[in-house]
Amino acid sequence: MIRGDSSVGAGSERQDTRAALRREAAGLLAGPEPWTWLAERDGEAVALLAAQRPDAARWIAPLVRQAPAAYLMLMFVKPGERGAGLGGALVREFHRASEAAGVAVTLLHYEQLNPLSVPFWSRHGYRPLWTTWQATPASAFR
Ligand SMILES: CC(C)(COP(=O)(O)OP(=O)(O)OC[C@H]1O[C@@H](n2cnc3c(N)ncnc32)[C@H](O)[C@@H]1OP(=O)(O)O)[C@@H](O)C(=O)NCCC(=O)NCCS
Repeated sequence: MIRGDSSVGAGSERQDTRAALRREAAGLLAGPEPWTWLAERDGEAVALLAAQRPDAARWIAPLVRQAPAAYLMLMFVKPGERGAGLGGALVREFHRASEAAGVAVTLLHYEQLNPLSVPFWSRHGYRPLWTTWQATPASAFR
């Protein structure tokens, strides 16, 4: 996800990105009743969605009128598994849990230049609220 996004916009993969993501996912899954959904095929992880409940999403809540807000932190489907509905199934699961918890709005960040992200999130009811652009290196625009 980070490698793909960095090729079309913000963020960049670092040497320890893979290990850091692995640690974060393991920590999320170990928490009490995590809002983390992991899809497996034959015992192998193929997709992941991790979200913050409203109490953990307070940092972003002031940016929207509706409350309470939940935040989708991380979403990834393995390359060979994309386009088969796994991502959609995980998002629907997240929306079901959010609705059951009385969440009024779900928020996330996505790369507006990522051709996989934009149609996918629009399809699931998301639209841009804030837009951030970045040129890397900055000299690319001079
Ligand atoms: C964005 C992402 C999570 C979507 O997951 P997914 O399992 O491919 O999603 P789905 O299969 O439910 O939906 C993909 C849509 O693109 C279409 N599609 C067709 N071929 C596809 C392909 N080869 N790859 C991806 N999507 C394809 C699907 O038909 C579907 O369209 P529809 O909703 O009109 O049916 C996944 O592509 C991904 O992990 N991308 C790399 C990481 C990334 O970009 N993450 C950004 C999240 S902000």
